[in-house]
Amino acid sequence: MSSRGIATANTHAADMTPDQHERYDALIGAVTSQSDAFTKAGVPAERATGQAHHREDSDRPAGHPPGPATDPARRRTIARRPPSRDRAPTPEEHLMKLLITGATGTVGGALIQHLAGTRHHLRALVRNPAKAQLPDGVEIVQGDLTNPGDLRRALDGVDRAFLNMADDNGEHFAAVAGQLGLGHVVLLSSFTVTVPLPLGEDNVVTARHRAGEQALHAAGVPATLLRPAGFYTSLLAWTSALADSVVGAPYLDVALPVVDPDDVAASAAAVLLADAPPAAAFSITGPKALTVRDQTRILGEVLGRELRTEQITEQQAKDTALPAGTPDRVAASILATASPAAAALPVSGDVQQLTGRGPRTFQRWTTEHATAFG
Ligand SMILES: NC(=O)c1ccc[n+]([C@@H]2O[C@H](COP(=O)([O-])OP(=O)(O)OC[C@H]3O[C@@H](n4cnc5c(N)ncnc54)[C@H](OP(=O)(O)O)[C@@H]3O)[C@@H](O)[C@H]2O)c1
Repeated sequence: MSSRGIATANTHAADMTPDQHERYDALIGAVTSQSDAFTKAGVPAERATGQAHHREDSDRPAGHPPGPATDPARRRTIARRPPSRDRAPTPEEHLMKLLITGATGTVGGALIQHLAGTRHHLRALVRNPAKAQLPDGVEIVQGDLTNPGDLRRALDGVDRAFLNMADDNGEHFAAVAGQLGLGHVVLLSSFTVTVPLPLGEDNVVTARHRAGEQALHAAGVPATLLRPAGFYTSLLAWTSALADSVVGAPYLDVALPVVDPDDVAASAAAVLLADAPPAAAFSITGPKALTVRDQTRILGEVLGRELRTEQITEQQAKDTALPAGTPDRVAASILATASPAAAALPVSGDVQQLTGRGPRTFQRWTTEHATAFG
């Protein structure tokens, strides 16, 4: 099962340097959407048609044809004005208790920021409270996603939750949420559940996210499935040689609709705050498909440096971007998320649909995170 493979990889992750950790974390989560398994399970599958696959040479945002949504709940923007701290809630605004998992991570951290200005009660499930730097007012519950007792405490009294399964496959969370009758969960899933990738069902990234989606469905927990493309942060995995102004990656010319993780967080926030969160799946992509070459060019422009790309083998990628000892199947699964097969993922209009604004460009993200590239 995928979670075992990932756990094995993380055993070796303990030996990594902080820099290796950052690059590994950027890689390990990569994913897409459109799930056969989900369709079979009766959960509204996200549409595959009507999503234009934009491939352009500049980072100018392309249009987002919304495409024919099959679920009426998805035809309209669901964003609404949240009750904010500087005004009293109207009588119809119910203040909710929201649980955020992965709050010390990239998406969960950004989600907390999106929600922090509201009057809703925010609770974070955190493994190590001493390390967690969360905004004032966020209640911290110490615990682990794999511990049902911790999850029971974390979910007690909660109206809605955001689930980042991290290295787990969501089974404990789904079971406890089902027992407690959780009102709604927003799952951080992945594009890999719908785009066929090398290794098929044996791809551990695909399998882990499918397992999480299916666990929630089996437990009867109403869920919105966010299935992001690879994050913009993934480029950090290929920049180990940036000191030499070289970006080395195995698939330089595969155009993928990579996305700003903050758009994933903004989409999650919109669903959590919606009057009626849609029990449906959404493909969370950036505004256009970009290759590693495109991203390197844009990064070079932002940094004001001449960068070049270098094709490396999959073995070199495994050796440089993944921790020593990563099992072959785990490495192959992770690399598959950026392989030519992954290019089947189309640009989606779902960020616009959920948040009321288009996804942020790679150029904007690199400008804001230029220091991360040294
Ligand atoms: N990266 C991509 O390109 C990509 C693409 C599509 C989908 N995704 C999805 O996004 C996820 C990564 O999201 P991210 O970048 O926000 O993650 P991240 O920055 O790596 O953060 C992971 C979070 O999960 C917490 N966590 C890990 N194990 C836990 C456990 N056993 N119990 C409780 N909390 C635990 C971590 O807390 P600590 O502070 O305790 O470590 C941290 O807050 C992937 O797993 C995948 O599902 C990623």
